Amino acid sequence: MRIVLLGAPGAGKGTQAKKLIEKYPIPQISTGDLLRAAVAAGTALGKEAKSYMDKGELVPDSVVLGMVEERLKQDDCKEGYILDGFPRNTKQAETLDKMLASLNMSLSAALSVDVPFEDLMKRLTGRRTCKACGQMYNVYFNAPKKDNVCDKCGGELFQRGDDKEETIKKRLDVYNAQTAPLIDYYGKKGILKAVAGTGGIDDIFGKVCSALGIN
Ligand code: AP5
Ligand code: MG
Ligand code: ZN
Repeated sequence: MRIVLLGAPGAGKGTQAKKLIEKYPIPQISTGDLLRAAVAAGTALGKEAKSYMDKGELVPDSVVLGMVEERLKQDDCKEGYILDGFPRNTKQAETLDKMLASLNMSLSAALSVDVPFEDLMKRLTGRRTCKACGQMYNVYFNAPKKDNVCDKCGGELFQRGDDKEETIKKRLDVYNAQTAPLIDYYGKKGILKAVAGTGGIDDIFGKVCSALGIN
């Protein structure tokens, strides 16, 4: 099962990916998470990526494509994976297709999680993430039982640096201009599935599973 998750910032790609990998033992590959880890580790790649991420712009393809290619070569990707936040523009989608074709592989589906733009700002400004296990919370919609403490592992929660109103606006513009065209790209290939990303997280997960034909 090789799946691409599409959706605007805050649509719930990470939230649904985490539920999918609880059910299926394949990795969630989030380019955003990989880039944030590189920034935190202070690697050369992280240093290059940081200035773009802080502005809400896409990190250059030259950085992201090499990182993804390395990740997909790892052993845990043999049975499939969920790509979360990649591809992000047509160039990345075309390169992914070429990478897969050279391995005689193809994508099983591209799943678009659709949320009205007016809901996204609150989801993003309210987001908190566990430093230890990556679980996502939201102070407005699904708050942790205890402030700033992860329900799952007791870890401390943090707020992402790019979840500020001005940066969020930029990220939404970048999504519209560069990433939204991929809905059409995968539609033309006949592998696009779409679910409404509003309502309860578990209800959406049910729709995600039916769209992907898994139960
Ligand atoms: P990335 O980390 O991918 O961020 P994003 O696309 O902006 O998406 P988010 O992670 O913000 O949203 P999400 O859809 O995962 O939502 P979540 O599940 O967390 O990218 C960050 C940056 O890295 C980019 O700006 C760019 O600079 C760089 N980058 C990354 N990939 C790149 C690439 N391929 N090429 C170039 N640059 C790249 O949910 C959000 C909140 O909503 C949470 O609080 C959650 O609890 C809540 N929530 C979820 N579902 C619901 C629901 N049903 N109801 C209410 N609240 C909900
Ligand atoms: Mg995410
Ligand atoms: Zn945790």
